[in-house]
Amino acid sequence: MNFTLNQKPVALDAPPEKPLLWALREDAALTGTKFGCGIAACGACTVMVDGQAVRSCVTPVSAVAGKAVTTIEGVGDKAPSPVQRAWIEQQVPQCGYCQPGFIMATTALLAKTPNPTDADIDAAITNLCRCGTYPAMRAAIKRAAELTKAGA
Ligand code: FES
Ligand code: FES
Repeated sequence: MNFTLNQKPVALDAPPEKPLLWALREDAALTGTKFGCGIAACGACTVMVDGQAVRSCVTPVSAVAGKAVTTIEGVGDKAPSPVQRAWIEQQVPQCGYCQPGFIMATTALLAKTPNPTDADIDAAITNLCRCGTYPAMRAAIKRAAELTKAGA
């Protein structure tokens, strides 16, 4: 399967129906994308495909042939992104397990909606966090929007 992974071309030897999540974790050795539920309910496995947030546990790897996939490893690989900096400022993570998925979903949201309202956040960020970091997360999303706008 040929696609672009974190801005580099890759050819993975994976069956077409294999979920992208497991192709990333097992065949590309990128384990930042997490398994939570496997049924598109929790968002722990969120990656971006051509800029859209996608739940990789229910996406066959064949669906990303020729497309650009970005995982948490491809965000802020040289320096923390505005979203990651906002997350640190707000001290969002508790156990941290769900956080890559939230950061990917937020990165995709801000690319489309640079100044999200609470309603925009509610509509776009439907990931689950068992530690209940939602208030800190919402503050971090708004802070990330400010940092992104300021070009910081
Ligand atoms: S593991 Fe994919 S949505 Fe939960
Ligand atoms: S920080 Fe623990 S599940 Fe979200």
